Amino acid sequence: MKHTVEIDWQQIDTIIERYNGDHEALLMIMQDISDLYNYLPPEVIPLLVERLGVKESLVYTVATFYKSISLEPRGKHIVNVCIGTACHVRGADKIMDALQEKLHINEGQTTDDFLFTLQAVRCVGCCASGPVIMVNKETHGGLDRTSVVKIIDQYRENAF
Ligand code: FES
Repeated sequence: MKHTVEIDWQQIDTIIERYNGDHEALLMIMQDISDLYNYLPPEVIPLLVERLGVKESLVYTVATFYKSISLEPRGKHIVNVCIGTACHVRGADKIMDALQEKLHINEGQTTDDFLFTLQAVRCVGCCASGPVIMVNKETHGGLDRTSVVKIIDQYRENAF
């Protein structure tokens, strides 16, 4: 399924202005645009190049380096599965398996309805609650296969 977004150029302009068009704020600007659309629409790159005076290659390097920024459309809900050591020993693999089965996608992919993107991440800082997932900015801990599937069901129900 092709996913397109309508870019609000005025909002993009407001973000760039917020940082006074400072090229040193490139990462923050890319992150803020990303927060709007859940990804950085590649159409905005020429504008970043022009307004911030940065090289196009730098924008691509930043986008490749930071996992929180993607040039590919992502789902409304980014499901980050912690695969850090503490979560790993508490069964993070099973959580990832259950999510892959439930969503019918592999790690790094997005569901056809663009509701979920599944990602593996390193320690999210609440090891005592492992295994942990983060859905957007919300953390869910102490999970097993059943509870993680229920969490997905809840997000799906609330999406409509
Ligand atoms: S290892 Fe998962 S929260 Fe620290």
